[in-house]
Amino acid sequence: MHDAAQVVFITGANTGIGAGLARAFHARGATVIISGRHRAALESVARECPGMEVEVLDVAKTSEIAACAQRLAERHRDLNLVINNAGVQRLVSFAGNQPLAVEDLDTEIDINLRGLIHVTNAFLPLLKRQPAARLVQVSSALAFVPLVAAPLYSASKAAVHAFTVALREQLKGSSVQVVELIPPAVKTDLHRNQTRRQINQMRLEDFVGAAMRGLDSGQDEIAVGLAKAARFGSRLAPGGIFRIVNKSE
Ligand SMILES: NC(=O)c1ccc[n+]([C@@H]2O[C@H](COP(=O)([O-])OP(=O)(O)OC[C@H]3O[C@@H](n4cnc5c(N)ncnc54)[C@H](OP(=O)(O)O)[C@@H]3O)[C@@H](O)[C@H]2O)c1
Repeated sequence: MHDAAQVVFITGANTGIGAGLARAFHARGATVIISGRHRAALESVARECPGMEVEVLDVAKTSEIAACAQRLAERHRDLNLVINNAGVQRLVSFAGNQPLAVEDLDTEIDINLRGLIHVTNAFLPLLKRQPAARLVQVSSALAFVPLVAAPLYSASKAAVHAFTVALREQLKGSSVQVVELIPPAVKTDLHRNQTRRQINQMRLEDFVGAAMRGLDSGQDEIAVGLAKAARFGSRLAPGGIFRIVNKSE
């Protein structure tokens, strides 16, 4: 598909990978709608990119997702690319003697998994009416090799992977290609709660370049950088790759 003919909706796009992808699509002439929880932050990204639109959407507020899809269905009948990118990562330990707070237990499941499923459900009918469309689910290398310090994040991303594999099979033969974008560690604010030293983080611009090349190639699964090794290692030598990923803990 010609880039200028792409109409792209991205969740969690006021910073990090979402904003990087939004800028890359905008630079190619696509129509881009960025969404997120904070209007001011979205508008500061959009200000640099003439014509970029913003939609305030907290993907954890599932009751607001259908209304957002409806607004876009009316404004952009040709919407043909949805990128489910919004995500958070928290460090959570069950090793203490007290039960954890509900927020600690639910946040990643609500945003990374339930949010992604509800956005998928609300936006698929819009994508299906196009002759060719794509749904991109952003998972993680940690979908394949869990990070001990982030068990719920890892679980949410493993579930995103499983959901995406099954969804792709269900939509085989439809006009919608279901893509999984699998980042390695990328230098963004995602790790703001991590206390351990961050090593081997990919630069955001390098990641975005690789992701765009992967999308251009038409692959169903785009594993970038060390995410390829994590995915491969999890099948070939799961114990070894698990120790490598968690070695500095
Ligand atoms: N960076 C990495 O190393 C890495 C590795 C593997 C996978 N990923 C995945 O890549 C995606 C983007 O992460 P990132 O690295 O770019 O992190 P980031 O810089 O922290 O950006 C995350 C984005 O998600 C938004 N967001 C969070 N909660 C949201 C909600 N409830 N509704 C809507 N938007 C929400 C954030 O906006 P606000 O919080 O301002 O609302 C922000 O725009 C995530 O799915 C992440 O799991 C990242």
